[in-house]
Amino acid sequence: MKQIAIDGPAGAGKSTVAREVAEKLGFVYVDTGAMYRTIALDCILKNADMDNEEDVGSVCKASDIDIRYIDGAQHMYLDGTDVSERIRKEEVGKAASSVARYSAVRARLVQLQKGLGERYNVVMDGRDIGTQVLPEADLKIFLTASVECRAQRRFKELTDKGEKRDPEVIKEDIRNRDYNDSHRAISPLVKAEDAIEVDTSDMSILEVTEKIIDLFNEKI
Ligand code: CDP
Repeated sequence: MKQIAIDGPAGAGKSTVAREVAEKLGFVYVDTGAMYRTIALDCILKNADMDNEEDVGSVCKASDIDIRYIDGAQHMYLDGTDVSERIRKEEVGKAASSVARYSAVRARLVQLQKGLGERYNVVMDGRDIGTQVLPEADLKIFLTASVECRAQRRFKELTDKGEKRDPEVIKEDIRNRDYNDSHRAISPLVKAEDAIEVDTSDMSILEVTEKIIDLFNEKI
């Protein structure tokens, strides 16, 4: 199976680019962030204390999550209900960053992700794909962009969805998320040694997509 790993901080454009690359190559796009978000939603619904590892761990262990690919799009199910839209809320993203600190959560999801990588040709995005999930990936990309640029993109994304936010608060949230993701004890966000760094601050989605496809074609 062919594997492309795309890692990077919040708002660098991973999911949009990964989806485009997968579509162009006919691969499955695996959004691992959505899996952490689904566990986080379950924790929110069950009133788990996000700072209590045991609490989160027991919700995660019992969590009835399922992933289905419908017309090339990944859908997340919680207790049999499609929660793909619901997990996009900013509140759930923040909670995802909290639950992603814990080994019980990571162990369950990493196992799931490795399984998908064995069954399909994948473009998988996340924080630890090149380092933990697909260490043998054919191509590893580390996508970055300035904090200002990522905050602007997130602001536009939320505005488009009708969620009103203060741009300064978004920037602060991104800084906090960067800090949490890079400083946690288990699987922190780091660039894999053999990953190629692409700064997307001044690049369009199309340019980034084409660059990744070119790099992939060079590698295989
Ligand atoms: O879209 P955004 O970058 O905000 O987040 P996401 O990719 O949906 O992931 C939500 C959160 O899950 C991130 O802030 C990470 O803390 C966590 N995550 C992770 O730890 N490992 C992954 N492979 C993917 C996401």
